[in-house]
Amino acid sequence: MIYLDHAATTPLRREALDAMLPFLTEIFGNPSSAHAAGRKAKAALDEAHETVARILNGAPREVVFTSGGTEAINLAIKGAAWASKAHGNQIITTAVEHHAALHAVQHLERFGFEAVVLPVDRYGRVDPDAVAGAITDRTILVTLMLANNEVGTIQPIAEIIDRVRQHPRILVHLDAVQAAPYLPIDVATLGVDMVSIGAHKFEGPKGTGALWMRHGTTILPQTQGGSQERYRRAGTEDVAGAVGLAAAFDLCTRERTAEVRRLRRLRDRLRDAILAVPGVELTGHPRERLPGHLSVICRDADGVSITLALDLDGICASTGSACTTGSPEPSHVLTALGYPEEEALGAVRMSLGRQTTEAEVERAVEVIPRTMARMRAGADAMAADPLGQQVPV
Ligand SMILES: Cc1ncc(COP(=O)(O)O)c(C=O)c1O
Repeated sequence: MIYLDHAATTPLRREALDAMLPFLTEIFGNPSSAHAAGRKAKAALDEAHETVARILNGAPREVVFTSGGTEAINLAIKGAAWASKAHGNQIITTAVEHHAALHAVQHLERFGFEAVVLPVDRYGRVDPDAVAGAITDRTILVTLMLANNEVGTIQPIAEIIDRVRQHPRILVHLDAVQAAPYLPIDVATLGVDMVSIGAHKFEGPKGTGALWMRHGTTILPQTQGGSQERYRRAGTEDVAGAVGLAAAFDLCTRERTAEVRRLRRLRDRLRDAILAVPGVELTGHPRERLPGHLSVICRDADGVSITLALDLDGICASTGSACTTGSPEPSHVLTALGYPEEEALGAVRMSLGRQTTEAEVERAVEVIPRTMARMRAGADAMAADPLGQQVPV
């Protein structure tokens, strides 16, 4: 099997599993317990906070472990919105956000918050001036993704933050779930207030994420209970998950420079082969995109049929977000980029990762363009002869 869907998830890396195992077995204490078993778990949890904080260049107390990227994003958006309600009700976001953010904002609209959903250009980038132009005296939060999961586009985040920072009262949340394995995130210089990450995008465990929030940022906790995570997220902590996230994030960050270079080279090789097929077109930004990410549209062909055919040939690719697979609707991201429905349904996403080898890419170069060309030829034949009269029965 050739796995080209690292944007959906990655396997748990061995070192992260090894780091986690003791906390799933003999070191089982509750970090809130005062006795020795609890203290051991607490020490590991503290160390995980320190590791994540060091990587992001923040402080350990600013890190809140969550059950994944989705929960971190929900905590940031809903927590900040409710805590800032006295100052205003407007939230600015973009049309290409992950559903974790878009649906959290939509949920808040039911309670009197107002959403401004900014459009993006053909590549999926939001205009920093449009963000500045949308700000009013009621704006309390700007929530944006650093890189898009479906088309890989990286937002001009420095320019956007530059505009928003002229209004110090407005909080900025960055969904870095997809970007964190590949782009350096330095919260000390970035100028954001909250950053969400998810471990399973960088070979950590599924169901573990983290929200970094600048010291002094006020959020309303979204779970009520104990005083864990400095009252920001009640519930007994998943120590093994936090340890696994920290171990995987640490290794990923250390290896990043070389890995990004390698992935870009392999991705470009696959991209050039695929874009040579007539009627296949790149989606997302040609340069400002994640290094292992390749997304295309096959005109007049069906992305689902292509991925099924690739699956039969042992290649795992997807049509877009794993969270919306199975939905007959065209992707909200491609629609926001301006693709009409019939074109958006021809979307295929291939995302490379640390396990992807040169040999796998060569095999993909053989199989994927051929499959796409075949599917397009089938569509052309259908268009020329819709009743199938030339097909012998
Ligand atoms: C950009 C982005 N945000 C949020 C999420 C949700 O993260 P999780 O799967 O950890 O809940 C994802 C996962 O696909 C993502 O790509």
